[in-house]
Amino acid sequence: MRSLVRETQLQPRALIYPLFVCEGEGLRREISSMPGVYNLSIDEALKEVEVCAALGIGGILLFGIPAEKDEQGSGAWASDGIVQRALRAIKALPASKSLVTIADVCLCEYTSHGHCGLVARDGEHFEVENDSSVALLAKAAASLAAAGADIVAPSDMMDGRIAAMRSALDAAGKHNTPILSYASKFASAFYGPFRDAADSAPQFGDRRTYQMDGANLREAMREIEQDIAEGADMLLMKPAMPYLDVIREARNRFDLPMGAYQVSGEYSMLHAAFQRGWLEPERAMLESLLSIRRAGADFIVTYFAKDAAKAL
Ligand code: PBG
Repeated sequence: MRSLVRETQLQPRALIYPLFVCEGEGLRREISSMPGVYNLSIDEALKEVEVCAALGIGGILLFGIPAEKDEQGSGAWASDGIVQRALRAIKALPASKSLVTIADVCLCEYTSHGHCGLVARDGEHFEVENDSSVALLAKAAASLAAAGADIVAPSDMMDGRIAAMRSALDAAGKHNTPILSYASKFASAFYGPFRDAADSAPQFGDRRTYQMDGANLREAMREIEQDIAEGADMLLMKPAMPYLDVIREARNRFDLPMGAYQVSGEYSMLHAAFQRGWLEPERAMLESLLSIRRAGADFIVTYFAKDAAKAL
């Protein structure tokens, strides 16, 4: 009877699993703050893709850890960049047919300073330059689509990037590649463990000049409106659990497909409690995911995707 009257469903099909791809071979390096999550060389990432496909997971989201970083983050748009190579290998795998392959678009994993855009410095003062960054991000999106990404997902939070990416994708013949926009990404403490995983912590300053203030729900709605006007095809809300009200408000206002990202810190804090025996792992994991679906997300990006798919 419970299953007949259940209002919210959780399905492996609506889960996306993030993968951190790095150089090397046979490499599987656990991220200390994220138990069960690894930096993977491409050959190891392919194994994960097969596991995800076998579990009926909906898709994967790719992040890259390049061997070298520079001021511009040129690894983000290099045709032989780490994610571009991973994409080609993944798309050649028969198992990948049942998965949607999403590429994160940002510069922070590729820049030596760790910011999501280009930095102009003037003595003590520094500024992340919006417009010059947008041009590079658009180049990265086109390059990732050319390498085989089914969807590009900009997480940089520069203004005007969606329109620039749409024209760069169209110019590259990628009219059919949708943009999944992290339209209202909040400047959050919960990204901490990710920055260990992706080696992308800013070397100076913080991300508050381009990521959103956690206090502002109405501003988040304006950011989303802007991205939709520029051509966003889908939305990705982030973080999830500390911002369930924002997800609900976006669901009520906008009709675009919408996902939510249960970010690294949300995963790590649950794991910390599991390790101490303070929370029941399976129940707490599924409840956290259910809350995000109930708030209105169609799909969830989560480091629990494999565990949840098994439990379901
Ligand atoms: C890159 C990016 C971040 C995350 C996704 N894309 C980190 C950040 O903005 O610092 C965070 C994901 C997570 O915490 O799991 N801009």
